[in-house]
Amino acid sequence: MPEILQFDLSAIPDFTEAVLAENARLSEMTGQSRLALVRTYGCQQNAADGERIKGVLSELGYGFTEQPEEAHLIIFNTCAVREHAEDRVFGNLGALKKLKNRRSSLIIAVCGCMAKQPHIAERIKKSFPYVDIVFGTNGIHRLPEYLYQALAQRRKVCQIEEQDSICEGMPVIRAEGGRALLSVMYGCDNFCSYCIVPYVRGRERSRRPEDILAEAEQIIAAGYHEILLLGQNVNSYGKGLDEPINFAELLRRINALPGDFRIKFMTSHPKDCTPELIDTIAACEKVCNYLHLPVQSGSDRILAQMNRRYDREKYLSLIRYAKEKVPGISFSSDIIVGFPGETEEDFAQTLSLVEEVEYDSLFTFIYSKRKGTKAADLPDVTPHSEKTERFARLLALQEQISIKRHQSFLGRKLRVIAEEEGKTGPGYLTGRSDENIICEFPGDPSLIGKPVWIVAREAKPFWMVGDCL
Ligand code: SAH
Ligand code: SF4
Ligand code: F3S
Repeated sequence: MPEILQFDLSAIPDFTEAVLAENARLSEMTGQSRLALVRTYGCQQNAADGERIKGVLSELGYGFTEQPEEAHLIIFNTCAVREHAEDRVFGNLGALKKLKNRRSSLIIAVCGCMAKQPHIAERIKKSFPYVDIVFGTNGIHRLPEYLYQALAQRRKVCQIEEQDSICEGMPVIRAEGGRALLSVMYGCDNFCSYCIVPYVRGRERSRRPEDILAEAEQIIAAGYHEILLLGQNVNSYGKGLDEPINFAELLRRINALPGDFRIKFMTSHPKDCTPELIDTIAACEKVCNYLHLPVQSGSDRILAQMNRRYDREKYLSLIRYAKEKVPGISFSSDIIVGFPGETEEDFAQTLSLVEEVEYDSLFTFIYSKRKGTKAADLPDVTPHSEKTERFARLLALQEQISIKRHQSFLGRKLRVIAEEEGKTGPGYLTGRSDENIICEFPGDPSLIGKPVWIVAREAKPFWMVGDCL
């Protein structure tokens, strides 16, 4: 069992009171309240961490801003999954140098998946010496202590050797828009050969079901209409807990909570996806008829090299079972193009799988070499131009499939949770349907966060246009 910590600011009065006092002193001196900018990169897990960072900061006397110029504290909560994600952070960090020169009292922190890698922490120290605090993915609960050191003691902090733990009771400031993120587990034990996540997020650990249910109840009471359950591989939920429980059972328990809300979850690893899980989607009325099931490649040879531990046939049999048990179910997937050694024949297998499944949407990535992973040692001879060309062919195929699938919804009623203003401009809203289709429709901003029924009028490749009923 991993260590379970209970977050409690009153148990660390030395840090908490010193930071609050310092913030109060600075506010009084400058006549401005203290503002923090928390910028989160990467996946929903990181977004959930960003909401906890904000929760802790709020209790330490900070308000929030999106403008670096007016922030007294800037935190970059980073992602390491691809080189491009890291480059963006380095670029944005470089841009903070001027601000820090102008205002030495500005505190800059870098945390999250990127910071957790020793060679990156070293690079930050060398190339961005004006960064005050560096910590990893499992140090949010120690933020009061780090701020105390940086703010009250004017000391630099670099703490990336954190223990894998679970911290309950952390304050949280959730995003608005109707959807609340709820982590059911942390870390990953799968070690897919291309992936950095197990190295930066630590070993897999599941939260206790009673803690998850209590958080779900708070979310429902706060008026959210969607709960998005998060884990790198939710299908292995429950391992190591005292009570024998699997993810399907957890879904049933959340489904049984009273309230007007829907449940989505990600990510399901195909190797651990069971008929029981699919039967549970079919049986639970609040669980959406939607499954994100990343396949990564359609070629058995590449899947074996990726250490995914399923093959094309096992994957397709799951899809067939889901189509039979949950009529109309929507699928989405992640696919990596240009994994080391991927041949044209392997890629053709991916295209044919995509055609067979008929996904609603795909998240597609060109392989990015990650230091320290197994795949980083594999010879990678395919020219980049060939990889981008394959990537474009995959996108074009998916566009055709999405539009065809969206056309099948024309004239139908869809229940959408309005998330934000639409791309078309004022007077339009956008949100996701229960089937996870992005929908845009004319509507008043007062509807944001609420479920609305629309009739689908027009099918586009990436979204549908509709009208409120
Ligand atoms: N736990 C999830 C996904 C985590 S990362 C799962 O198993 O599906 C999200 C996606 O990023 C992965 O599904 C994969 O498609 C992509 N990805 C991860 N590492 C990558 C790399 N080195 N290069 C390109 N894409 C990568
Ligand atoms: Fe990465 Fe694989 Fe774990 Fe997903 S399951 S986070 S792809 S190692
Ligand atoms: Fe997520 Fe990126 Fe970390 S995808 S788990 S934030 S490496």
